[in-house]
Amino acid sequence: MSTTPSGARIHRATLIRGDGIGPEVTEAALQVLEAAGVAMEWDTVEAGAEVVQKYGTPVPEGVLDSIRRTRVALKGPIGTPVGGGFRSANVTLRQSLGLFASVRPVKNLPGLKTPFDGVDLVLVRENTEGLYSGLEHQVAPGIVESLKIVTEAASLRIAEYAFQLAQREGRSEVCTVHKANILKLSDGLFLECARRVAKGYPEITHREIIVDNCAMQLVTNPGQFQVLLLENLYGDILSDLCAGLVGGLGVVPGANIGEDIAVFEAVHGSAPDIAGKHLANPTAVILSAVMMLRHLGEDDAASAIEQAVFQTLAEPANHPGDLGGHAGTDEITRAVIERLE
Ligand code: NAI
Repeated sequence: MSTTPSGARIHRATLIRGDGIGPEVTEAALQVLEAAGVAMEWDTVEAGAEVVQKYGTPVPEGVLDSIRRTRVALKGPIGTPVGGGFRSANVTLRQSLGLFASVRPVKNLPGLKTPFDGVDLVLVRENTEGLYSGLEHQVAPGIVESLKIVTEAASLRIAEYAFQLAQREGRSEVCTVHKANILKLSDGLFLECARRVAKGYPEITHREIIVDNCAMQLVTNPGQFQVLLLENLYGDILSDLCAGLVGGLGVVPGANIGEDIAVFEAVHGSAPDIAGKHLANPTAVILSAVMMLRHLGEDDAASAIEQAVFQTLAEPANHPGDLGGHAGTDEITRAVIERLE
């Protein structure tokens, strides 16, 4: 591990700026990290639609090699064409690097008024299989088949991760979200694995909930949930719903965790409707960088940035469009940096 002349550790990490608002919001995060005095050495690589023409894939081998080398990445969102075109770069990254857990903490931000108080939950989403396996084909014109893959190994692994997270964070309940009443084999296996893992954690309550009821409970009484354990597609859909509970997609960070690799990225996508207009809320990516710092053991810098973000958002003058205000990406970033100085 190399250090700066003042003795601070220098962290090597991969940077993917991404598409749409990606370059704007990742730039904001880089500036904030620098202002917090964190010494980062970035290996910047390109992935996404722009590189498909050149390499024939949105995720060239060089991107995977870089992340395998640095084992940590900060990533902006990457767009995926609808109904055709190339396979999702995000899914390719997660599957190729074995990033089996998507972890998304959803919490009220101090000072930011939203319809609910007391939201403090973590979504733990299985990130490598389910309906995201990409196994689809046309059986005959007008009939397509899409395969939902659920394996015992991946289900046990994600359940174990969820219970460990609950234990580490002092949370007393894990709630497995499923549709095993209808998908008796696939969701049945996922649920059965969660039940098996739960037996090893007698101090943590294991609750089970059917996904449609979970959606309703989340929009009426979200404070009842602590850790949601979900298969891939339910996790994708309910992450956005949960983001809506605490201010929207612009404020919720995330991490994709593997055995020894972690890629940090916001829940939101590339937001093409506001790209290039400096309207994007950088909070979600800045808070993803905070998660990265904690992963790297830089807890003081992580807490300093988090506090600066909370103080910034506590003032309505610093709210961007998605929070009902008029502040631009650069203004919010400057406001966070001022509070770090
Ligand atoms: P989106 O998350 O990009 O946008 C949904 C809505 O939220 C839009 O109105 C957008 O303006 C707003 N929004 C999102 N992030 C915001 C921010 N930081 N500040 C202010 N407003 C924000 O979802 P959408 O439109 O469904 O997807 C757009 C593209 O992003 C698609 O190609 C999709 O595949 C991709 N995507 C990529 C993800 C990733 O790289 N991890 C995750 C989700 C979607």
